[in-house]
Amino acid sequence: MGEPVVCTTVAGLREAIAQRVAGGAESLGLLPTMGALHRGHLEIARRTRAENDLAVVSVFVNPLQFGPGEDYESYPRQLEQDVALLAREGVDLVFAPDVREMYPDGTPVVSVTSGAAGSILEGATRPGHFDGALTVVSKLFTIMAPGPGVPFRAYFGEKDAQQLLLMQRMVRDLDHRVEIRPVPIVRSPEGLALSSRNQYLSPEQAGHALVLHRTLSALAAGELTLEQARRRVAAEPDVRLDYLVTVDPANLALVEPAPGTLALVAAWVGPTRLIDNMRI
Ligand code: PAF
Repeated sequence: MGEPVVCTTVAGLREAIAQRVAGGAESLGLLPTMGALHRGHLEIARRTRAENDLAVVSVFVNPLQFGPGEDYESYPRQLEQDVALLAREGVDLVFAPDVREMYPDGTPVVSVTSGAAGSILEGATRPGHFDGALTVVSKLFTIMAPGPGVPFRAYFGEKDAQQLLLMQRMVRDLDHRVEIRPVPIVRSPEGLALSSRNQYLSPEQAGHALVLHRTLSALAAGELTLEQARRRVAAEPDVRLDYLVTVDPANLALVEPAPGTLALVAAWVGPTRLIDNMRI
């Protein structure tokens, strides 16, 4: 398989997409990422490749979605390694702009707001996070839209359940011509949901982090009440629970655990914030 073409400018990417579409590409799949790719991303990249004529992955650490004191500066950046991994998956184009290319005038004056659904759960602890993520993805959709008659699909992992729901909502509300395709969570053999931030964990912390998956599994199996599940996570050494709730997956409204509801958990393991979820 050939190396992907790496585009660093909006104009260059648009040109590359237009050429491929003119050359007969009949569909475009986009996997938006912030890089530091792991096996979870690569599974989504594989699906993006398999389901589309033209497979594009964006790699951009988006400053708008990081709050003060979060890990924007230290977020792992490893473009060369990411491109090599994507080459193995047969990805055609990598879009890797710098911050000035994406936001030439600095913080955009006009941006997407995530509303009430973006200010609960992750949004309560990370104010502005979803506004930033929606804004950059909205820009990516606009930049990459391949034009009428060419199906455009964007792939998002189910690990970020709230983000996925908000992306679906944005596409509906703003009439982006793109279909969102959710992809199931990929886990380590022990059950830890894969995340670029897992590389911050020491081996001991990675062991403690397994409490998230174990507790979700026990809750989903009806072996624990919600309160018992919260106590179990909170009792794990080096783990600080942010929230463990069950929601209606259609709108994130808090509900009692019941079949079809979605259990969401967020916790700090040492200084690293992790999230996970599971259908009950
Ligand atoms: O999920 C992520 O990695 C980011 O939020 C996304 C969708 C790439 C936007 O920056």
